[in-house]
Amino acid sequence: MKYKTIETDRKDFIATIWLNRPEKHNAFDNLMIEELTYAFTGLSKTDDLRVVILRGKGKSFCAGADLNYMKDIAKYGYKENFEDGKRLATLFKTVYFCPHPTIAVVHGAAFGGANGLLSACDIVIAEQDTTFAFSEVKIGISPATIGPYVLKRIGEFGGKELMMTGKRFKGKEAEKFGLVNKAVSYDEIERVLQDYIKQFMTSAPKAAEATKAMISTLVNDQMTITDAMDYTADIIARLRAADEGQEGMAAFLEKRKPNWVK
Ligand code: ACO
Repeated sequence: MKYKTIETDRKDFIATIWLNRPEKHNAFDNLMIEELTYAFTGLSKTDDLRVVILRGKGKSFCAGADLNYMKDIAKYGYKENFEDGKRLATLFKTVYFCPHPTIAVVHGAAFGGANGLLSACDIVIAEQDTTFAFSEVKIGISPATIGPYVLKRIGEFGGKELMMTGKRFKGKEAEKFGLVNKAVSYDEIERVLQDYIKQFMTSAPKAAEATKAMISTLVNDQMTITDAMDYTADIIARLRAADEGQEGMAAFLEKRKPNWVK
């Protein structure tokens, strides 16, 4: 697919998806939703990736849903609006279930649906001057399809405060709420990003992905403790006998780097 609203690049084991409507602060319209879903689906099926980065071109990470497009679609009936909501929900689900480690790098503005995109990523690094807002209630709608992912990060009462007031807040407060992992100065962003990349590049790729899948299953599938015993014992039994487990333990004992460290 030739993209019009995003850009993708790849360097070695790292893919970056850039939101690319800088003149609209990267607000997402129907086409961007389609292109992002397509891009994340493709990267999810690519085996040899070890990090996927999501970030924005221009002044902002993302100003949420494109309000022109939202206003237009509202003229159609319930069915069209429902299908449209499902497309958005599918995008967030696709980002969340990307099997590779994902990092969102956020700056400028993160409004409305932008918070769904970043919340669905594994790690969020924000420039501390970023302005965040769940501005949906200010324009008469609700942060609905992003809800499941944002609430995983900020919980029920954090959600009530931020989503019901729609207030604006900055990076350090976002960090306090748990919406972002780290809020740092402009000068530190690239270093912090490189630190996370380095961690993922020194972790065994399949083990990192298995751990991501395990966390998602344990959190989302509401297993009993007993079911989780069998489930987790199965994971460790498989991984320690697999190539990476054998290589990692041998490398430690032989005082050398494992073969996945590039
Ligand atoms: N949808 C459509 N266009 C947008 C959006 C948006 N969400 N956000 C910004 N733009 C457009 C503006 O209309 C403007 O277009 P124009 O140059 O054709 O007039 C252009 O981007 C630049 O925006 P400004 O407002 O001039 O830039 P400024 O730096 O002053 O403010 C900010 C940036 C804070 C992001 C502001 O544009 C804003 O508040 N946007 C709305 C954000 C919002 O409420 N999003 C939630 C949508 S609801 C949802 O996500 C479900």
